[in-house]
Amino acid sequence: MKLTLKIWRQKNGQTKGAFQTYSLDNVSGDMSFLEMLDVLNEDLINNNEEPVVFDHDCREGICGACSLQINGEPHGPDALITTCQLHMRSFNDGDTITIEPFRAAAFPVIKDLMVDRSAFERIQQAGGYISVNTSGNTIDANTIPVDKASADAAFDAATCIGCGACVAACKNASAMLFTSAKVSQFSLLPQGKVEATQRVLNMVEQMDKEGFGNCTNTGACEAECPKGISLEFIARMNREYLKASIKG
Ligand code: SF4
Ligand code: FES
Repeated sequence: MKLTLKIWRQKNGQTKGAFQTYSLDNVSGDMSFLEMLDVLNEDLINNNEEPVVFDHDCREGICGACSLQINGEPHGPDALITTCQLHMRSFNDGDTITIEPFRAAAFPVIKDLMVDRSAFERIQQAGGYISVNTSGNTIDANTIPVDKASADAAFDAATCIGCGACVAACKNASAMLFTSAKVSQFSLLPQGKVEATQRVLNMVEQMDKEGFGNCTNTGACEAECPKGISLEFIARMNREYLKASIKG
């Protein structure tokens, strides 16, 4: 395939960015999207030009690092996959592909297509943990019975990889889908109930401090989430937050 790539280039967070156009020949449909960018970068390096900076790590859909807005959609045109799982066979010979970083005030650009998502880390640090007594009388987690429905829901919530596509897809740059998944993966289980009240208050407070927008129930986050995290978790977190606020 022959492709035209319109790629966002930006030196750093302090300078203005702009799109630059590149042409790439001999792109195979079996290449992943990131491998296609690797080929472009090899060409740029061979021509003594600066390679395009983009985030990636596992390249198998589990780390959440590969954050690209492709033709206006986080993680590109295919549903329920990350950018690293997207293959070039999803595009056609002669296509023009626009590649941008995830756009949100709380995700400042570091360089080119790489953004700083440490706001998510701080939301996690505000409550995304449980306290376990490790003083010698630790109880095996398997000795505490968990009903199947709660275990399944907690597992579904825990599949969130923290990629930030929900924020990039939302017109308000809301982080409610991410935060609700992280709150729920703990509070649905007995081990996470001990700190549940403080957890939801702290994580929502941190989310607001980071400058993410409000949720207005448009559902764009759910539609673009590579892990299929359901809007149900936002409704769940809202109920949990209300109860926690009343309890104080
Ligand atoms: S909820 Fe989905 S889109 Fe949002 S961070 Fe988690 S995996 Fe990514
Ligand atoms: S590089 Fe890890 S999910 Fe894509």
